[in-house]
Amino acid sequence: MSQKTNLAGIKPENKKLYCDNSDDKGHPLNALWLDPFAPPSALHKQALQQASINLLSVSTLEQLKKVLNETQLVVIRIKEDASLYDEVLELVNSIKIRLPIICRIDRNDFELGIQIMQKGAFHVLASDCVKVQDWIDVAKKIVEKQNNKNTYVFVDNESKKLLSLAEKVAEADVTTLITGPTGSGKEVLARVLHDASSRYSRPFISINCGAIPENLMEDLLFGHEKGAFTGAIKEHRGVFEQADTGTLFLDEIGELPPNLQTKLLRVLQERNITRLGANNQTKVDFRLIAATNKDLKKAIEDREFREDLYFRISTFRLSIASLSNRPGDILPLAANIISRTAKNFVNLSDEAQNKLLTYHWPGNVRELDNVIQRALVICQGSLIKKEDLIFDDLPTHELVQSSGGNQTNKQTIIDKLPDENYSSTNSNSPMNEDVPALNLDDAVRHSEYLTIQSAIRSTKNRNDAAKVLGISPRTLRYKIAQLKNFEPKQFSFE
Ligand SMILES: Nc1ncnc2c1ncn2[C@@H]1O[C@H](COP(=O)(O)OP(=O)(O)OP(=O)(O)O)[C@@H](O)[C@H]1O
Ligand SMILES: [Mg+2]
Repeated sequence: MSQKTNLAGIKPENKKLYCDNSDDKGHPLNALWLDPFAPPSALHKQALQQASINLLSVSTLEQLKKVLNETQLVVIRIKEDASLYDEVLELVNSIKIRLPIICRIDRNDFELGIQIMQKGAFHVLASDCVKVQDWIDVAKKIVEKQNNKNTYVFVDNESKKLLSLAEKVAEADVTTLITGPTGSGKEVLARVLHDASSRYSRPFISINCGAIPENLMEDLLFGHEKGAFTGAIKEHRGVFEQADTGTLFLDEIGELPPNLQTKLLRVLQERNITRLGANNQTKVDFRLIAATNKDLKKAIEDREFREDLYFRISTFRLSIASLSNRPGDILPLAANIISRTAKNFVNLSDEAQNKLLTYHWPGNVRELDNVIQRALVICQGSLIKKEDLIFDDLPTHELVQSSGGNQTNKQTIIDKLPDENYSSTNSNSPMNEDVPALNLDDAVRHSEYLTIQSAIRSTKNRNDAAKVLGISPRTLRYKIAQLKNFEPKQFSFE
């Protein structure tokens, strides 16, 4: 098979991954130390050395600029106002290397600390902090963040093209619409856009418009003032405010109710919001990235989605292909999941690799993740064989028998729900399955899961399933999202 890759060759150091300027090999980190008021004390030097941070001290911005390329973090002393932070951030952005900025602030300058955190500083420490553990925590946080970035896989030519386009779009700071089938990596791409943008050190706030009940959505977006309604015992910042200076990712934007579509459009035009119960407006500056697996053009025709909002959110459109249309990603993704999950090195047999490459992946990368996680639980020793790979679109009883019902399996209930357009002749009554002894809540949940599963299996798509269940498609999506949060530990299917 031409796309087949030798998995042994995809060990971490060879992986072709997004962004790899990190040091994950346990080397000390190099830090630039800028303190216009005093050189580092002996105690500071000692603490940083013990935390494996090499320190190069400078006292002016000019000096800092000259050596900025040789560092992995910047530690600056901030006093009285945030202007030095702004200047250093501008310098860091200009060299296009993502450097974390750690700010040292006097203990009594609490307000300034908050202001700096809101501006997106990577970490704030007291200026006299010489506690080794605090500096170790900072170093750990930096390495973890860098390693996280390295877990994205863009190996297939299609994906490489998409990644380079995304990096260009990221710089442009424009509103972006990501389309792609379920589980294909829309949120991953949104994070790539954020990380590659000048807002990378600011908040990334993500919400799924399809998973939140309609009556809570407005409060979640706009927030409220204390006393705005019964139960509003304190003020609440909505996601527009939380994402201020950063990125707001609205997943499943096609599910946004019509009245909130209108309100979102207004926010995007005017760039300010009014909290529920507030008299005044608050300015907000966020970059919007929206995603959908729905055909928004059709939703516009069906009068479910506002055309003017569509044009607003789709200044740039990025489309992710389904996993079966970028087969070059399959094995590197599998290797990536194995290296993230397995404690020891685990390989895939040649037959198992072939099985992965020839499957059609209706659930895309998320399904691949499930399949590999399951295989890691089932496989004997350090080799995954083709029998260990159990795909999601098998009937549930087969899936359960093959998995041996291992309780450590990380599947969630929802992982066992068939794909969106799955159609099957299996329309067994949900109540025919054996239900183990459960408490009432779990029994209700279990029964709900089986009923939903049965409706999905006996219909062509989720809209039809919702009709059979007598609920709206939105409620169905909400219920599925809720079930997602429960591990199936108490639902033994053995
Ligand atoms: N390029 C990638 N590299 C590594 N992991 C990926 C990649 N793309 C997707 N994944 C993983 O696959 C899973 C699904 O990705 P994600 O949530 O971004 O998909 P999605 O398109 O937003 O799904 P949904 O349609 O359900 O909202 C996640 O666990 C994610 O980490
Ligand atoms: Mg998503």
